[in-house]
Amino acid sequence: MFSLLSTSIILGALVFLICFWFVRRPKNLPPGPWTLPIIGYRFKTGHVHEAYVELAKKYGPVFSIRRGPFLFVVLNDRESVKQALVKSGEFFSDRSVPGPINWTIPDAKKKASIVWSNGKSWVDLRKFSLPALRSFGFGKKSLVPQINLEARYLAEEIKALHGEPMDPSAVLNKATANVMAQLIFGRRYEYDDAEFIEILQVMVDIFAFVSDNDPVNVFEPLIHTPWYKPYREMMIKQNKFIHAQLYFHRETFQKDNIRDFVDAFLADDISKEYTLEDFGRIVLDFFTAGTDTTAVVTSWALLFLSVHSDVQRKVQNELDAVVGRGRQPDTSDRPNLPYCDATLMEIMRLRPVVPISLPHMTSADASLGPYTIPKGTIIVPNLWAVHHDPKEWCDPHLFNPNRFLSADGQTVVKNEAWMPFSTGRRDCLGMQLAMMETFLLFTNLFQQFEFKLPPDQPTHSMRGHPGLTMPPESYKICAIER
Ligand code: HEM
Repeated sequence: MFSLLSTSIILGALVFLICFWFVRRPKNLPPGPWTLPIIGYRFKTGHVHEAYVELAKKYGPVFSIRRGPFLFVVLNDRESVKQALVKSGEFFSDRSVPGPINWTIPDAKKKASIVWSNGKSWVDLRKFSLPALRSFGFGKKSLVPQINLEARYLAEEIKALHGEPMDPSAVLNKATANVMAQLIFGRRYEYDDAEFIEILQVMVDIFAFVSDNDPVNVFEPLIHTPWYKPYREMMIKQNKFIHAQLYFHRETFQKDNIRDFVDAFLADDISKEYTLEDFGRIVLDFFTAGTDTTAVVTSWALLFLSVHSDVQRKVQNELDAVVGRGRQPDTSDRPNLPYCDATLMEIMRLRPVVPISLPHMTSADASLGPYTIPKGTIIVPNLWAVHHDPKEWCDPHLFNPNRFLSADGQTVVKNEAWMPFSTGRRDCLGMQLAMMETFLLFTNLFQQFEFKLPPDQPTHSMRGHPGLTMPPESYKICAIER
């Protein structure tokens, strides 16, 4: 009897101590909601960026929250994002790796990834990757003909539908994936290539499978349960595709003929430190980061301009006046196309492709304004909140490209609160390429087509489908040749 009682007391005390450990708040943290022990805060919506805005109304632009065993600090205004990621970038630039992604990184010790690594691996891989990719035109003017060629293939595919309603997401993904495939694998794929179609669908499904409020992000072991079997299978398929390209390159490699990014890896000393399989994850980082994001911006552009036909008309008038119909647009036209530029910026403001950016993590105890943020805290830069902050933008929920134009409409006006590529030392590595590619795809498409929602579906939700990125919810559109 006594031993049963004492065992219960000891067990009770133990449970209390564990709960206490999970709910205890380190001193001087930003305020935040009370959360359940162990489980942490549960969102009622998949649109976590919007839920964070609601919490910020109650607790202020910088608040803390527990999710699973982790402490999160969410930054909801320009000042706090800049303060953390730029001014105190030294302490706020490590990456936190969500559970399902951690599971995909081959060498846990080396963290062979560019998006998801820290410290020496991240520095070494960034130092190797950027110059290697730039030597094949990454983000440089020399890439314009390749992107414009892809824009022609894209236009041909759309023309073949003769204005019939189509979901543009798959074909946009093919175009952006081909730009990356040429840089990385030195080749493009035909749009009817079955393997290409399948792998792009797998990529889209992977991005959409795990939303930010999914418990697997904070309880990684869940990835081994049957619920995540489709995710595991898709990752295996994706890796198989990447590895097949890598093995082909190894077999056909000639050191005096470096064809692309994979060859650059095989020729560099870095291949002594990372195996070809490790390198697969780095290739995947670039291929996925460079494909889905740019396609998502273009997809939002088609939808927004179909809904706002007055803006579409102005875009087309500017294109007709500056570029005409006899040649393709070029990046050198950009300064003369301020309305097109402003429209693209407004689309990326209203629907940032990665609404809560990618998670950062503090590498040491650090201060942020009046608060102390412990080492290992997950930092969430809520770009959506910055882009919808009424302190920064007049009528932030309205679609208005003029907000990025000077009073005479002749020049683009920058705003420090515009940060779709995030900011600081961990900002988007592909920003120059993305800016160039979205501009060329956007101008090529609106030069040649008028886009309209189908007559029987005159409206569409503009909320978006949140996953790792946020594309529009699936829609159909008619492209009429001009
Ligand atoms: C419109 C298109 C794009 C948008 C809106 C975008 C946005 C972002 C954002 C928000 C981040 C997280 C930055 C942070 O953690 O602070 C990021 C990281 C990254 N992006 Fe992009 N991206 C785009 C296109 C691209 C392209 C075309 C590439 C090229 C392959 C690319 C490669 C990367 C890489 C490698 C990182 C990780 C950087 C690091 O951790 O050091 N992105 N991007």
